[in-house]
Amino acid sequence: MTADDPNNVAPAVANLETIVSLSKRRGFVFPSSEIYGGINAVWDYGPLGVELKNNVKRAWWRAMVQERDEIVGLDAGILMHPQVWLTSGHVASFSDPLVECATDHRRFRLDELPGTEELSATDLRDPSIVQRLGLRCPVDGGPLSPPRRFNLMFKTYMGPVEEDAAIVYLRPETAQGSYVNFKNVQQSTRKKLPFGIAQVGKSFRNEISPGNFVFRMREFEQMEMQYFVRPEEAARTFEAWLPRRWDWYTRYGVTPERLRFREHAPDELAHYAKKAVDIEYRFPFGWKELEGIHNRADFDLSNHQAASGENLEYFDPATAEHFIPWIVETAGGPDRAAFTFLIDSYREEEVRGEKRVVLALHPALAPYKVAVLPLLKKRPEIVDMCHRILADLKRDMMAVYDDTAAIGKLYRRQDEIGTPWCVTVDVESLEDGAVTVRDRDSMTQERIAAEGVRRAILDRLAAVQG
Ligand code: GAP
Repeated sequence: MTADDPNNVAPAVANLETIVSLSKRRGFVFPSSEIYGGINAVWDYGPLGVELKNNVKRAWWRAMVQERDEIVGLDAGILMHPQVWLTSGHVASFSDPLVECATDHRRFRLDELPGTEELSATDLRDPSIVQRLGLRCPVDGGPLSPPRRFNLMFKTYMGPVEEDAAIVYLRPETAQGSYVNFKNVQQSTRKKLPFGIAQVGKSFRNEISPGNFVFRMREFEQMEMQYFVRPEEAARTFEAWLPRRWDWYTRYGVTPERLRFREHAPDELAHYAKKAVDIEYRFPFGWKELEGIHNRADFDLSNHQAASGENLEYFDPATAEHFIPWIVETAGGPDRAAFTFLIDSYREEEVRGEKRVVLALHPALAPYKVAVLPLLKKRPEIVDMCHRILADLKRDMMAVYDDTAAIGKLYRRQDEIGTPWCVTVDVESLEDGAVTVRDRDSMTQERIAAEGVRRAILDRLAAVQG
């Protein structure tokens, strides 16, 4: 990589630990079941994390459903008829290459081992690859087995009897719920092509090498949209969705230089994809997928039609044709997106000789929009005024009161969790009915009438929301 290579970009945060420890300390993300030693690759969202993630999902829904006429929402079940996953190809093909160490029996995803960075998907399927490259266990140096395919779907049993006939899968993607409901949605909404179905919800994958905090988990959420088009429109539609999805990340503050597109090589494509382009982000651990855009052609609907016997064709009244629509999918996730917003907004600055940590989150994503702070918590009239302002603000937004430290420290605490505005009530406020509104990023302060605070914050939110 040369110095002027656009891929040669420093991450927003050099060390992932900075974000992991901030997340734990301030209540964004906790390790799951921590009092029992934790469970690998499952994370719990704390009081601030759940606000951030809900805001990410809301922002996605706004851009994908609310602001568009041709996309509608759906919330399908996590458990589906098991035939869905046979038909979709996931039972046969949704797998990663697994190698096992002969001495410590640790298991690794082959393409996550050091020295495999440049391997093609064909190489990764080659049974002699471990021997050919002389790969060893990265923990104890022991010999590794040849790769075998490991299916990523979790299985469970439906009903009281644990037998093969009762096996069901936890969905590994939300997409199939949209495909099996294609006719229901199309007929109930009377949508004409092109139209889309958007879903947000949990998915599960028994990942071989989960890790990097919430980047790769075994239980996670997806935000996926399936766009149904005439076959000849699929290529053009695919290209149109690339900048739209890129713009969604930059609209909410991600630095464009830390984003790039990467097209999948033909031998790397998922079993359903005709073409795939990832939007990648420069994480502290390298360039990694943030979201995938896929041209799935008629793969899913044709297979479901053949396996179910249901006619899934679309009738185009304009041309009097019956055909299976093609699908362009945008597939992202609120965990990876929230993680990206956290990393990319993290700043360390020096203010009057002291370190200030700021999460410069877009106000629409910030867990609290505003904090109400008393300059003197020992004056009951000041505290009462704070609570009146707080109650007014809470009618429209997440707002918080804090009086557990001196004002300078209270500001720093709000900066560190990304609260865009603080409202301070002081002794003068009791006389003139005015309060100070302090801006997180510029640290400028403005004096406004207490009864105008809610309107002023709503106006500021509306101005940045666009
Ligand atoms: N329906 C297509 C599909 O599932 P994918 O690229 O496998 O495509 C889409 O997943 C998105 O789901 C990813 O870009 C990522 O944001 C999220 N995702 C997938 N696996 C994940 C995991 N193990 N942990 C967190 N997020 C994950």
